[in-house]
Amino acid sequence: MIQTRNIDFYYGTFHALKNISMEMKAHTVTALIGPSGCGKSTFLRLFNRMNDLIGDTKLTGECLIESQNIYDKSVQVDDLRKKVGMVFQKPNPFPKSIFENVAYGLRVNDIRDKTYITGRVEESLQAAALWDEVKDKLKKSAFELSGGQQQRLCIARALAIAPSILLMDEPASALDPISTSKIEELIHSLKQQYTIVIVTHNMQQAARISDRTGFFMLGELIEYDDTKKIFLNPEKEQTQNYITGRFG
Ligand SMILES: Nc1ncnc2c1ncn2[C@@H]1O[C@H](COP(=O)(O)OP(=O)(O)OP(=O)(O)O)[C@@H](O)[C@H]1O
Ligand SMILES: [Mg+2]
Repeated sequence: MIQTRNIDFYYGTFHALKNISMEMKAHTVTALIGPSGCGKSTFLRLFNRMNDLIGDTKLTGECLIESQNIYDKSVQVDDLRKKVGMVFQKPNPFPKSIFENVAYGLRVNDIRDKTYITGRVEESLQAAALWDEVKDKLKKSAFELSGGQQQRLCIARALAIAPSILLMDEPASALDPISTSKIEELIHSLKQQYTIVIVTHNMQQAARISDRTGFFMLGELIEYDDTKKIFLNPEKEQTQNYITGRFG
């Protein structure tokens, strides 16, 4: 589903990603872990070309999604972002109703059919495990929801346009343990339909929810393997030190 080949990325002269080659299969959850500043978010943002929005950057190497290089001139970024949804660290609902937050992606894609939109909003809220909590107040402002509910709303918003890949950058770091476990259960259930790449600082979380884990340090991919292997029997000493909390 996703494949990077020899990716190098620079902010100005700063070499933020160094020769990263990685493959992620469809319907798997991949966790990206590593100390602050090692390049996890930068790497994640490659897949929906969010880094394009930052000036003075340089990218070399290939980033393929379903075998297509997404940095090819022929690729329309809008189309790419329909295929690759993203959820951020802090819930960022729009100043709109709960319903309109989820319908937003459909409307900007020129979908007008009211019955379709209503159905899709419900499906997305169901998939994000939020429907039961909001079904009687869809017209209320999204800001009236709790932080954990807002984050699930943002997940529903991302799901509404039916992406095949979901990028999540520390989606539970601002949440309490109950909301966090809801998000984790959700990720587990979404895996059947989506390919998920998640950045997390929480080692237990990475171990619980992911199939594969990549450990980054100073812009390098130190080790990438089955999650069990990374947490039980890593090859590299740096990985061992990191997961046991000896640094980072
Ligand atoms: N817009 C930017 N301009 C210049 N340098 C940047 C920019 N964004 C990130 N960097 C630098 O690139 C490196 C990687 O940053 P990135 O945000 O990818 O790290 P991270 O692993 O996600 O860290 P954290 O765990 O703290 O979120 C850091 O040294 C950071 O200072
Ligand atoms: Mg980050």
